[in-house]
Amino acid sequence: MTKKMTKKTTGNITEKQTVLTSKLTNGLKTYEIIDFYDLSYPHSSAQILKQKNEKRKTEIEEKINGEIETKTEPESENLLYRIIEPVLSSEKQLLFDKIISLLNDSINPNLFENKNKSKTELLKKSFFEILKIYSIRLSEKDAAEMFYFIERNFLKFCEISPLLDDKNIEDISCNGYDLPIYVFHQKYGSVKTTLSFSKPQLDLLVRRMAQSSKKHISVSNPMTDATMPDGSRVHLTLGNEITVKGSTFTIRKFNEKPFLPADLVSNKTFTAEMMAYLWLCVESNMNIIFAGGTASGKTTSLNAVCHFIPRHKKIVSIEDTREINLPHENWVSGISRAGSEAADEIMNSNSFSNYSKKLTLYDLLKAALRQRPEYILVGEIRGSEAYVLFQAMSTGHTTLSTMHAESVDTLIHRLENPPMNVPRVMIQTLDVLVVLAQTEENGHFYKKCLSVHEIIETDPQTSEILTQDIFNKQRAQSIDLFSNSVVLKRIQERKGWAKDELRREFEKRIRFLINEQKGEKENGEKENEEKENGEKENGEKENGEKENGEKENGEKGKKEKEMKIYDI
Ligand SMILES: Nc1ncnc2c1ncn2[C@@H]1O[C@H](COP(=O)(O)OP(=O)(O)O)[C@@H](O)[C@H]1O
Ligand SMILES: [Mg+2]
Repeated sequence: MTKKMTKKTTGNITEKQTVLTSKLTNGLKTYEIIDFYDLSYPHSSAQILKQKNEKRKTEIEEKINGEIETKTEPESENLLYRIIEPVLSSEKQLLFDKIISLLNDSINPNLFENKNKSKTELLKKSFFEILKIYSIRLSEKDAAEMFYFIERNFLKFCEISPLLDDKNIEDISCNGYDLPIYVFHQKYGSVKTTLSFSKPQLDLLVRRMAQSSKKHISVSNPMTDATMPDGSRVHLTLGNEITVKGSTFTIRKFNEKPFLPADLVSNKTFTAEMMAYLWLCVESNMNIIFAGGTASGKTTSLNAVCHFIPRHKKIVSIEDTREINLPHENWVSGISRAGSEAADEIMNSNSFSNYSKKLTLYDLLKAALRQRPEYILVGEIRGSEAYVLFQAMSTGHTTLSTMHAESVDTLIHRLENPPMNVPRVMIQTLDVLVVLAQTEENGHFYKKCLSVHEIIETDPQTSEILTQDIFNKQRAQSIDLFSNSVVLKRIQERKGWAKDELRREFEKRIRFLINEQKGEKENGEKENEEKENGEKENGEKENGEKENGEKENGEKGKKEKEMKIYDI
């Protein structure tokens, strides 16, 4: 679940940041702050600015046919995202530059190889050694601020690090030199930021991102996909070779706290009934595809329902980039390998040429079938692997996958045509199709399950694939699941349940999901309450300590949460 944004109104941090804000707002006077929250406490925070109304009107008043007309612009075009970080005075900046060059000279390349200490600890040690050797005296606050920048530049990704820390941001995109970076914000949609990079800065950053993922990018190989150390996926291009405006990057952020089924019920992506239905389906080996547009939440929903896979079942997952994250132990996770990457490997080693073999989803899926998996998960079906996937379904494997398609008709059309070419008789082995979409309501963005379809059979006369929507957001009245669902009937038969047993199991799962959701809310509220009380009572230092403690607790909580398998 996304963490609630905390708008700080009390404590020392606000005073400090108000000063910072007024300093930095120079030049942006036509904007007002509509939201403000911490990123990496206490050093970085985010501001959402909105262009003031009067200004906007005068700016877009246009003379049309001799008459002045005022056009209304879409909301998101008038929003701006700004990162607030400490400002170093020119004197401190000079000192900071000196410390950076001393650190650059003194840091041994093997420093970070020490597995017993965190990189941050090791860097901090080197920083304090330099202060000591060169008798540099800094106040506790100045040292903390400088170390914030040192860590950001040495261990993270410089200026974009705060954006990576923002849990509300889904995507970060940079379209070229000196162009503003855009983010996709869960609450405000696509928003321009005040951040941009010059040519040398951007080229360096792109090379660094590639390097940190052990990928190669150069003028002769100017494009690569990589997984960043935090699990985020990034697409990189270098120079003007293939992108006219210069180097680019697009980061699709990894959600370190995977959404659990109850989270997707509490944020209203699914109703408890839909989720309980999917629970029974996953448990009873039904084949499911999650379909939708880009960033509609397909992979997230697939990952969430995989928590329903019984604990000891053998799972094999196949993806182009690592996104699936499961608590199961009996799980083999496979990632495809592009040809260029393999070629890099040859360049960097003296391996034989068969090392350069490209390993596609198709190859991995064929290999997966030899591993006798009970559940096969495919990140996103796009090409010839679709045929193997449907073959796997026909031979009794349970498959859960995602595919780009907005409706049941487009899904079937895509499956039947090149490059997938799945015969119609095979398509009917699919049991359930879940259609998701990104929706906008009152200026806010949500991922929603629009409908759930059951594949019934192929009509013997017309050869049409018969389907029915068992849940549909647009239908005013829900239909009676138990008398209409063919999939629930299949489940009932497989499990050998009587009709009221099926109903009891279904209702038990709804109760479980609702209780989980309540527990989640209560915990969240308790945490917030504790945090607020702490803020009121404690000073800045104590607060800092508490935050650390909370972070640790959070991490512990996260582990426990990730480990959860929904067993009833
Ligand atoms: N149900 C949801 N509620 C809130 N955020 C979501 C939900 N599903 C996905 N997201 C977020 O949206 C982004 C895109 O989700 P993803 O599952 O990768 O989409 P897709 O696979 O359809 O491209 C991710 O940052 C993810 O955390
Ligand atoms: Mg996806």
